[in-house]
Amino acid sequence: MSDSLLLVSIAVLGGTGKEGKGLAYRWAKAGYHVYIGSRDPAKAGNTAREISDMLGGEVSVEGFGNAEAAKKADIVILTVPYAAHKDTIESVKKDLQGKILVDVTVPLVPPKVATVQMPPDGSAAQEALAILGKGVEVCAAFQNISHEHLLDNADVDCDVLVTGTTKEARAEVLKLVRAAKLHGWDAGPIENSAVVEGLTSVLIGINKKYGSSHAGIKITGVDR
Ligand SMILES: NC(=O)c1ccc[n+]([C@@H]2O[C@H](COP(=O)([O-])OP(=O)(O)OC[C@H]3O[C@@H](n4cnc5c(N)ncnc54)[C@H](OP(=O)(O)O)[C@@H]3O)[C@@H](O)[C@H]2O)c1
Repeated sequence: MSDSLLLVSIAVLGGTGKEGKGLAYRWAKAGYHVYIGSRDPAKAGNTAREISDMLGGEVSVEGFGNAEAAKKADIVILTVPYAAHKDTIESVKKDLQGKILVDVTVPLVPPKVATVQMPPDGSAAQEALAILGKGVEVCAAFQNISHEHLLDNADVDCDVLVTGTTKEARAEVLKLVRAAKLHGWDAGPIENSAVVEGLTSVLIGINKKYGSSHAGIKITGVDR
C-alpha cells in the first residue's frame, strides 16, 4: 500500500522545540500539511516560517496555539518535556477525541536523566491514555531518536519502535515514520512503551559514557 497520506494533516504540539521541529521539518518536506503547536501562537508561526524557509517555501507549515493545532489536524504528535506532559494533554483533551495521539515524551526526571524512572501508570504514554480515555488512540514513538540529525536530512542510525492501543493506529504511525525517512517497527501494545521510553535513559547514559550525543538502537535478525 502506498503511503499516500498527503491528505493527512499533522499537528506537532511543542513543535517549536528541538525534537518536534525536527520531525515537523521532515513531514513538511515529505509533503504533509503540518501545524506547529505552541503555548504562544506567534512563536509557533515563527517556527513554521523557519521550517518553510529551510525548505524553499514550497511546503505547507503553519503555526497555531496547541489547542487550535490539535483541532485542525488528523494526527497529533506530542513533543514537550515530561514536566509539561500532563498539563499539555489536559489542555487539548477535547480536541484529540476521535484522533491518534503520538506521544514522543520521555519521562525523564532531572537530574538523574540517565536512570530509568518510570511513572506509576507505567509510562508517559500510558499516563496520556489514562487522561484521554477510550476516545483517543494513543501511540508512542520516536523516543529514541535524537533531534540532532532530523534537520540536516541525514540518515538516522536508529530504529523507531512504535507501540500503541491498536494495530491499526500503529500502522498509521508507521506511515509517518517512513515519511520521516526513518525505519520503524510495530513494537506492540501501549504497555510496551515503558521499555521504549526507558531505553532513552539508557541511551543518554551511553552517550555520556562514550562521548556521543546520538546513540541509537537497531533491531537485528529480521528482514528489513
Ligand atoms: N531532544 C531530543 O533529542 C529528544 C529525543 C527523543 C525524545 N525527546 C522527548 O521529546 C520531548 C521534547 O523534547 P525537546 O528536546 O524537543 O524539548 P524542548 O525543546 O525543551 O521543549 C519542546 C517544547 O515544549 C514546550 N515546553 C517547554 N517547557 C514547557 C512547559 N513547562 N510547559 C508547557 N510547554 C513547555 C515548548 O514549546 P512552547 O514554548 O512553544 O509552548 C518547547 O519548545 C521530551 O519529552 C523529550 O524527552 C527528545
